[in-house]
Amino acid sequence: MGEVELVLPAATSAAVSTDGKLVGLLVISGLITLLVASLLGLFAVRFRRGSKAGRSRLPNWFSRELETVWTLATVGLFVAIFAWAASQDFALAVPPARSMEIHVVGKQWMWKAEHPGGQREINELHVPAGETIELVLNSQDVIHSFYVPAFRLKQDVVPGHTTRMRFHTEKTGTYRLFCAEYCGTQHSAMIGRVVVMAKEDYADWLTRQPEGDDLEEDGKKLFVSKGCAGCHYGSSQVRAPRLAGVYGSKVPLSDGRVVTADDDYVRDSILQPKRDVVAGFAPIMPSFAGALTEGELVSLTAYIRSLAVTETAR
Ligand code: CUA
Repeated sequence: MGEVELVLPAATSAAVSTDGKLVGLLVISGLITLLVASLLGLFAVRFRRGSKAGRSRLPNWFSRELETVWTLATVGLFVAIFAWAASQDFALAVPPARSMEIHVVGKQWMWKAEHPGGQREINELHVPAGETIELVLNSQDVIHSFYVPAFRLKQDVVPGHTTRMRFHTEKTGTYRLFCAEYCGTQHSAMIGRVVVMAKEDYADWLTRQPEGDDLEEDGKKLFVSKGCAGCHYGSSQVRAPRLAGVYGSKVPLSDGRVVTADDDYVRDSILQPKRDVVAGFAPIMPSFAGALTEGELVSLTAYIRSLAVTETAR
């Protein structure tokens, strides 16, 4: 405590650097505004109507070199500000070595979060302090935007595309969560809160949540009930890729490319199976776009991911 908080609590390291940028830019533009305003005042008095100040030619100290110098100095200042801001943005974009993934789905008009252990919550997100949290964001319908002002972070949540948002906070506390993209009549009601808890409190909180279905268990059930197993399973007569061990491996595609089977690949393969066909297979799988909710996609992906773990433990 005892820190000066200008407008909002700064709850993440990203918030501190963002505030630094804001204050820095304010100081720079403030100083320049002050300089320009002072000169304006000075000239207004000096060259007022009826004054004897010489108007016929430029003063002696003025030179082409001087003009070149201040033009270049201005350009240099802009480039320096750009480099400063860009380096901070790049630092934010680098994935951390270790992070805790929480899936968040935006839908009209709520935020649904799913913890690694399958615990679910709506319009609330409980996270442990002192951990790097990586939110995996998907939208079920239209574009939303996950916005936590105290974190100074805002990330669009786009249907059909996974976006990620990372943050690290040491401070426990409760912070407001908004949807920052107009998404329909109840957009203004799409609000919630992020609760940052001490690690022990978070562990405790998890145990007090109703037993959610484990993501993998959930996915396994869907794998059968949605008909995936009909083709992608051992005894099937249909020639479809077997999924055991696929996750995390390099997959050769029919157009010659080789891709790594990660979350995005699995998701695309379910929603747009005809786009990236695995080499040696016919493009016969129908699209499951619209047939699965975002939550079901997350569960199915978790199940397919779990198949990799057993297979790669050689
Ligand atoms: Cu969701 Cu605005």
